[in-house]
Amino acid sequence: MTTPRPGRLTAAIGGLAVAGLSVALALPAAAAGSTLQAAASESGRYFGTAIAANRLSDSTYTTIANREFNMITAENEMKMDATEPSQNQFSYGNGDRIVSWARQNGKQVRGHALAWHSQQPGWMQNMSGTSLRNAMLNHVTQVATHYKGQIYAWDVVNEAFADGSSGGRRDSNLQRTGNDWIEAAFRAARAADPAAKLCYNDYNTDNWSHAKTQGVYNMVRDFKSRGVPIDCVGFQAHFNSGNPVPSNYDTTLRNFAALGVDVQITELDIEGSGSSQAQQYQGVVQACLSVSRCTGITVWGVRDSDSWRASGTPLLFDGSGNKKAAYTSVLNQLNAGGTTTPNPTPTTPAPTPTTPPPTGGGSCTATYSEGQKWSDRFNGTVTIRANTNISGWQSTVTVRNPQRIIATWNGSPTWDSSGNVMTMRPSGSGALSAGQTTSFGFTVQHGGNWTWPSLTCTAS
Ligand code: G3I
Repeated sequence: MTTPRPGRLTAAIGGLAVAGLSVALALPAAAAGSTLQAAASESGRYFGTAIAANRLSDSTYTTIANREFNMITAENEMKMDATEPSQNQFSYGNGDRIVSWARQNGKQVRGHALAWHSQQPGWMQNMSGTSLRNAMLNHVTQVATHYKGQIYAWDVVNEAFADGSSGGRRDSNLQRTGNDWIEAAFRAARAADPAAKLCYNDYNTDNWSHAKTQGVYNMVRDFKSRGVPIDCVGFQAHFNSGNPVPSNYDTTLRNFAALGVDVQITELDIEGSGSSQAQQYQGVVQACLSVSRCTGITVWGVRDSDSWRASGTPLLFDGSGNKKAAYTSVLNQLNAGGTTTPNPTPTTPAPTPTTPPPTGGGSCTATYSEGQKWSDRFNGTVTIRANTNISGWQSTVTVRNPQRIIATWNGSPTWDSSGNVMTMRPSGSGALSAGQTTSFGFTVQHGGNWTWPSLTCTAS
């Protein structure tokens, strides 16, 4: 349970002295921390929701939204098909309604989304090449200019990476205009609204071991190193039983933040019910709270019945607007706070280890063996052998530019800021008795360099 923080305790005591017992008993319910936005604000974060313009006339909906959330995303109203239904004819009616509702109620707005392969207007779907590139840049410029000064953060580009094991870009008409379409969109957005934070937003990028996560990570690192204006990365976070909240979520958020960007959970929903759903929500909140640059969480709708996947009951309020167990677990976790680890400054790459650190007595050996090879990538396996009884191990794998590790399995990886050195630790217990072995694997995107990675093994 939560220990009241000094500020809240003072408020309750003040209530007792000034207003008498009956008011004082009611005070904690209205004090900081009794709504999602208040609880998130205690650590300087926001708590947001997606809003649909056609629900703004539903007072149950607006009452909950106004009470609980302080960051608003237009669920569909700022997308390309909504804002530019005919080329060069812009339509901001519904987007503006959401922005005015948010601003009238003292809330900030996340803009979603300037450029996306999906929900393009018909005229754009049929375009290609230079005319499409110019149309996309014009769209970014016009829409970001219209909302200039009113947007906390824009999802400049949405969902540009492929699912599966490639770690590469998704094929789309925009991608076919050239690989630099994403950075071009970011530069156009910065020129149009220099005050808005500019985010890349995607789904299935929550698990650090997934190739898609690594692909986005490598793009953001590349953008930061070349001065492409990117300020934040959005993790949509649509979860269900087939795609549960990963146990390494905090690692993912922390590693992205270490590149020098904010991270935000942008479209959170988790299908399910009861305590299992509540627990998963808690895990997401905990992961965000553990990373200082995780600046806020947005859930993708208010009540279950408002959700794009209503049958999965994935939100914090039921169809009647009642708080669910998931709501309580999120609120409690926000109030409990988290361990926030400062993010390292991303500029100086950590030195590649040349000598293994002290081993604490035990010893182990790491051996590389080649796996499958493709024209663009290869798999490798590292076998860890305990030379003595050991209670744990960690192994560094150093690749050489332009190589990048794009996927891993059977272990829990972390990365140095250069991206060349991966430190693999066991997912569970790392205890091995003398002579025993275990292994982990990875995929290297080689960029023409077939050199084997170098390895170290450190026992504890
Ligand atoms: O408003 C029309 C209605 O007039 C029409 O009768 C009806 C018939 O199909 O369609 C209604 O529009 C639908 C719209 O939602 C509003 O409900 C669209 O068909 C439907 O495609 C659209 O779905 C949205 C979806 O994005 C489209 O890709 C969802 O509401 C929206 O929640 C969802 O949001 C996306 C994020 O933008 C990006 N990340 C994934 C997330 C979930 O798919």
